[in-house]
Amino acid sequence: MQTISGRSVQSRCLARVAAPGRKVCVVRAGAAVQDKPGEKVVGSAWQFTQPAGKGLGWYTGAEDGYLYVDQLRVEDIRRQVPEALFYLYSKNRVMHNYESYKKALEGLDSLPCYAVKANNNLIIMKQLAAAGSGAVLVSGNELKMAIAAGFDPSRTIFNGNGKLPWELELAVEKGVLINIDSEFDLQNIAAAARKTGKKAKVLLRINPDVDPQVHPYVSTGLAGSKFGIRNSHIKWFLDAIRAEPMLELVGVHSHLGSTITKVNIFRDAAVIMCEFIKMIRAEGFELKYLNIGGGLGIDYSHEGQVLPTPTDLIDTVRDIVKELGLTLVIEPGRSMIATSCALVNTVTGVKTNGNKNFIVVDGSMATLIRPSLYGAYQHIELTAPSTAEKQTFDVVGPICESGDYLGKDRVLPTPKAGDGLVVHDAGAYCMSMASNYNLKMRPAEYLVEDGKVRKIRHEETLEQHMAVFEGL
Ligand code: LLP
Repeated sequence: MQTISGRSVQSRCLARVAAPGRKVCVVRAGAAVQDKPGEKVVGSAWQFTQPAGKGLGWYTGAEDGYLYVDQLRVEDIRRQVPEALFYLYSKNRVMHNYESYKKALEGLDSLPCYAVKANNNLIIMKQLAAAGSGAVLVSGNELKMAIAAGFDPSRTIFNGNGKLPWELELAVEKGVLINIDSEFDLQNIAAAARKTGKKAKVLLRINPDVDPQVHPYVSTGLAGSKFGIRNSHIKWFLDAIRAEPMLELVGVHSHLGSTITKVNIFRDAAVIMCEFIKMIRAEGFELKYLNIGGGLGIDYSHEGQVLPTPTDLIDTVRDIVKELGLTLVIEPGRSMIATSCALVNTVTGVKTNGNKNFIVVDGSMATLIRPSLYGAYQHIELTAPSTAEKQTFDVVGPICESGDYLGKDRVLPTPKAGDGLVVHDAGAYCMSMASNYNLKMRPAEYLVEDGKVRKIRHEETLEQHMAVFEGL
């Protein structure tokens, strides 16, 4: 057993150079991920400790114990930027994640679509669009943002169980692929196509009834989910599509859920979908796309877990896609963007009540709600090495609610007011789910790009908030 950032890791590690309280994980043999030539590491542990100033994405400098993003110390960035609370991204990590998908898809006809709901920062969307990614959208406004970011609308997909008429009209007009989610959704898509005078290219979102083994809030592919059509009802949909000349059925879609850590779950669903495709083709439809949705998990625990990679995911369905001559669509959100970012907080103070210790920071459930909403674990670290006494803390925000926390029972060196503290893996479903609760304004965002810090979103202001009441 070795320790990385205070958490235990089951691995064959060799402790190398270390700042106080930190150990570097370098494995002798038989590991899964290649780090630098000649050096092998266990799982994704290499992401968390790398040579200072020379690593990729977020990591602890092996020589100095400071937290880094790419070449830069987070402490230096904190001094450079005016805000005390901000989201900070590594462009290199985003692009690396996207390239991992592209590489995994080599040899297949494919359409990788970034799930914009995970993170809708315009600058990041522009960078993914420029790299050739498609996009998966869940609202008309996401479609408008995707167009503004430069995504090719014919390489985007519109999902959702409650798409509105104006959203569908825009999607049809722009040539977006649209998923049919229900009987009424089919009628609304057909109406939008008639109104626009353009044929709509549609996919049937079929509920394969496969258990993704995840939190119920992020499970979507079981019978009883609000998404998709009952697989017993496919024939009704085929007849309805056949009767509607403005609809062209081009594929099928399934999305099982999010944070999935076993690729055999995707395989099971693909096998079921493959039977549906054969049945639909036998009815005379020329299906092109198999969309297997998003959902690959990441190592939130930072315990060096060996999780499936995009290549593991694609390889598990590769034979099915080839055999049926299909174009594979995938819709990754979390696994594209989560690891690129952390929420950088400033410690307001430390307090003890009864037998509980609290670190109070400026970030909160308004800035990052996943821990409060799902009981999700996101790894927390201080930005600078410390020899202060380690204690067990709840890391909490200033929101007037006991459910406001970023982490529970975290063993950390006791910080001082003004110290930096990050919540890791905050690229997906963090800023995009932030709110103004307690009139906290959404924070600024920064990106490390080519060794420099670039502002990619302004902090919201109270004046902007007051503007929604103007003239009322
Ligand atoms: N496609 C569809 C149809 C989806 O519903 C989702 C996510 C994705 C793709 C992207 O899934 P990903 O690769 O990111 O797992 N707020 C939750 C996650 C909700 C996911 C909703 N659907 C969280 O913070 O964990």
